[in-house]
Formats: sequence, C-alpha cells, structure tokens
Amino acid sequence: MTNLFKFMNVFVKVYFLLKKRVLMKSIKKIGENFSFDPKSEIVSPHYLEIGDNVFIGSNAYISADISIGNNVMMGPSLTILGGDHFFAVKGKYQRFLYPKERENVKKIYLEDDIWIGANVTLFGGVTIGAGSVIGACSVVIKSLPPFTVCVGHICKPIKKIFSDEDLKEHLQILGLKEDRIDEIINRRNFELTTWSIQNIKSVDNTNIYWETLEDE
Ligand SMILES: CC(C)(COP(=O)(O)OP(=O)(O)OC[C@H]1O[C@@H](n2cnc3c(N)ncnc32)[C@H](O)[C@@H]1OP(=O)(O)O)[C@@H](O)C(=O)NCCC(=O)NCCS
Repeated sequence: MTNLFKFMNVFVKVYFLLKKRVLMKSIKKIGENFSFDPKSEIVSPHYLEIGDNVFIGSNAYISADISIGNNVMMGPSLTILGGDHFFAVKGKYQRFLYPKERENVKKIYLEDDIWIGANVTLFGGVTIGAGSVIGACSVVIKSLPPFTVCVGHICKPIKKIFSDEDLKEHLQILGLKEDRIDEIINRRNFELTTWSIQNIKSVDNTNIYWETLEDE
C-alpha cells in the first residue's frame, strides 16, 4: 500500500512537471522568473504574454487573451474570463453557438507592478493600471487606474497609492523619466474622475516594517 502510494505520488509529480513544461512552451511570450502552479488551468497559453517576475498563485483559471507586465503577483484562486459564449440567437441552443473567429474575446492588460489578492475575477477588456492593488474577492469588470487600491464587486478605486507628490518621488527613485511620470499621474487623476469618486484618500506605507526579496 505504501509503495503504491509512493508510486502514485511520483506519478502525479511527473505529470504536473510535464504539464508545466508543455504549458511554458505554448505560452506566446514569457519573461524571466515566472512562477506558476501547474495544477492551475491556462486555457489558451498561445494568447498569453508574460513579463519578468510574474507570480500566479495556486488554483488559477485563465481563459483569456492577456498581456501581463513585469513584477506582477496574483493570489490564489484567480479567475480570468476573457470572452463570452454567444447567446440570444433565435432558434439556436446557446450550448452549441461558437464564434467563427475570436470576435468574442476582449484582450486584458495587466500593467507592471500589480498585486491582485485572492479569489479575484477579471473580465475581458479590462486594463489594470501599473502599481495598483486589487483587494481579495474583487470582481473587475471595468478598467482601473494606475497606483490605486481597488476593491469590491464591481471593483472600484478606494485609495490612491501615494499622493501625487509622493508618487512622483516614488517613480523618480525607480528611475522613470519625468514625462512618463507626469503621464502616469495625469492618467491616474483623469481615470479617477471617470469613477466620480470625491475626496479619495491616499495610502503610504513607506514608514512601516517591510523587506524586499530583491535584497536577498
Ligand atoms: C485591499 C487590501 C490590500 C487592504 O488595503 P487597505 O488600503 O489597507 O484598505 P483598508 O483595510 O484600509 O480598507 C479600506 C476599505 O475597503 C474595504 N475593503 C478592504 N479590502 C476589501 C476587499 N477585499 N473587498 C471589499 N472591501 C474591502 C474595507 O472594509 C474598508 O472599508 P470602509 O472604509 O468602509 O471601512 C486588503 O483588504 C486585501 O483585500 N488584501 C488581499 C489579501 C489577499 O488576498 N492575500 C492573499 C495573498 S496574495
């Protein structure tokens, strides 16, 4: 019994190792240091572009045409749904309706330096701006601005990450050019106006305890 258990264990490990290899080879573009649990499901890897240092937590389900930037981490049980089935066609069962091409798929863009919490669902066509945080169990139906904390169903911005002044300093330290920095700050403020959110607070955790994996 123990031997059978050991054999099954090795078999499962080899299966997932091979699955991971095949999957990595099928991904359209893949950067350095990609971390991914092979028990997760990626339905269309050839439509997936991944930057450097991307971490996807366990139990993900990704069925989407998606571009992921650098330094992005996603918590467990992420669901990404990039397209819709067809429905509402007279005289047809929706179970058997398929698009001729990929016209029902809307590309998703996850920019650099994003943290997506556990159990988040993303819908097709959204862009999550660089530097943002998406709270656990959020449902992202509309695009979200850069450098904001966003939560809920429907996921909305609730805080700026850094005031405009501190964001400028943060991006200067990271070495971004001045015109790019202005572009990000202006874009954040413009996109926040489209959410009609008044008096949004800002968060700055610079002075609390933290460590960086880069220092190891
Ligand atoms: C969003 C998060 C990062 C907290 O950010 P924060 O800026 O510290 O936010 P706060 O805790 O001050 O909460 C602000 C408001 O948002 C609400 N809120 C926080 N997280 C929320 C969430 N995931 N969904 C809905 N509302 C949320 C709070 O209740 C609070 O509401 P209030 O102002 O009405 O009291 C955190 O709540 C979260 O969701 N973390 C993800 C954890 C996770 O998934 N870990 C897995 C490892 S990857």
